[in-house]
Amino acid sequence: MKTNSGKLWAGRFSGENEKLTDEFDASIGFDKRLAPYDIEGSVAHVKMLCKQGFISAEDTEKIITALEQLRNELSSDDSMLMKGGYEDIHMAVEAIITDRIGEPGQRIHTGRSRNDQVALDMRMFVLDQCGILQNRLKALISVLLAKAEENADVVMPGFTHVQKAQAVTYGHYLNAYSEMFFRDISRIQDVAKRTDEMPLGAGALAASTLELDDDYVAELLGFKAVSKNSLDAVSDRDYCIELLSALSIVMMHLSRFCEEIVWWASEEFAYIKVSDGYSTGSSMMPQKRNPDVAELIRGKTGRVYGDLMAMLTVMKGIPMSYDKDIQEDKESVFDAVDTADICLTIFTGMVKDISVNEEKMNRAVEESFMDSTDAAEYLVRKGCPFRHAHFIIGGLVGLAEKQGIWLRDISEEDLKAACGEYYDPGIREAFNATGNLKNKHSALSPAPEKVRAYVKAAKEKLANL
Ligand code: ARG
Repeated sequence: MKTNSGKLWAGRFSGENEKLTDEFDASIGFDKRLAPYDIEGSVAHVKMLCKQGFISAEDTEKIITALEQLRNELSSDDSMLMKGGYEDIHMAVEAIITDRIGEPGQRIHTGRSRNDQVALDMRMFVLDQCGILQNRLKALISVLLAKAEENADVVMPGFTHVQKAQAVTYGHYLNAYSEMFFRDISRIQDVAKRTDEMPLGAGALAASTLELDDDYVAELLGFKAVSKNSLDAVSDRDYCIELLSALSIVMMHLSRFCEEIVWWASEEFAYIKVSDGYSTGSSMMPQKRNPDVAELIRGKTGRVYGDLMAMLTVMKGIPMSYDKDIQEDKESVFDAVDTADICLTIFTGMVKDISVNEEKMNRAVEESFMDSTDAAEYLVRKGCPFRHAHFIIGGLVGLAEKQGIWLRDISEEDLKAACGEYYDPGIREAFNATGNLKNKHSALSPAPEKVRAYVKAAKEKLANL
């Protein structure tokens, strides 16, 4: 079956499109999501056309009333958009308005192309999403800070290579993630800064012979500036790529965190417990308590990376200026923002509910050689060169391992023999990974008082964002 009748661009064609071509070409199935932006953009455009004398005040009022009515209708039910056989949201809005009010509707598209129109819609959408996602990140950081404050004194193993390394506090660990999410916010703010350009006026690619007032449209829509080059305005999607890149980093951070939640909630670690609200069971094994939510977030990270790769690949072959490939931007952007949004939301709830097994964490510190570096540093204070101190304590670790004891249990005799001229009975005090935390005075240290200081400063920073 072939169809062409009713298309807004049908004028120059005598033949009909294949039905499959129509279906393949159409974006209405997904770009209908842009309807509120498309309509808002059209209202501003029409106001400008009126101001510039291209549409009468009377027609302008009719158009704007119809656009606003359509916006209200669509906000509760947008099924009509799928019924008219429309190619995309831009055609749909123009066609519906023209159907309803007649000739004035035919003036809406004056001096405008779908190319600059879709660029505008996407920029407005991305700007809104930047705001929403920043708020999600702020909510997450605020939960993390509250938890860090609560757990400032909870000592736990810090790892490198998933081997017990040195003692830290759980609060300090949580603050590390707050730092990452603060940077995520600043990356998204950056995206918004560069997205904040109004592309209307570019037309299809080369602007218009009509005297349009692009600055006025930008002002009506709340944009800081107007795009500076018509070719760039219609063909560029680097702000979408930047958003997907920033969201890929957000997801990478969430995924790391989830990886640890999965490990730590296991019976082997049992450092934390994920609440019932965020755990699931097994259909076969009655005892199971699975951290599905954390695993799914880890898994969904791949989708967002995929969206970024898809978008980068779409754009790499785009000859100037607009090409239809660019229509592929939408599903990637929509999928990535939706995925990041739901993941941030559910993750925040899950983390808020996590309970900590302080005793288990403490014991993991006690039953370890995580005091080794501190002991080496004790010898450094006694004048021992660090490399030599490292060697001495390494020897003691080997000895203790053989004897099946910890450093604090080593006999005075063995200690004296190993330390030689640097021996001092006070070294026993250094065999205490937990106690040594209080000797870590720098601002970035895991010591409880530093955790509290970080939280205090971070809360202020958050409030001022
Ligand atoms: N649906 C199109 C898109 O999303 C709108 C622009 C179409 N422009 C064109 N010249 N066919 O990119």
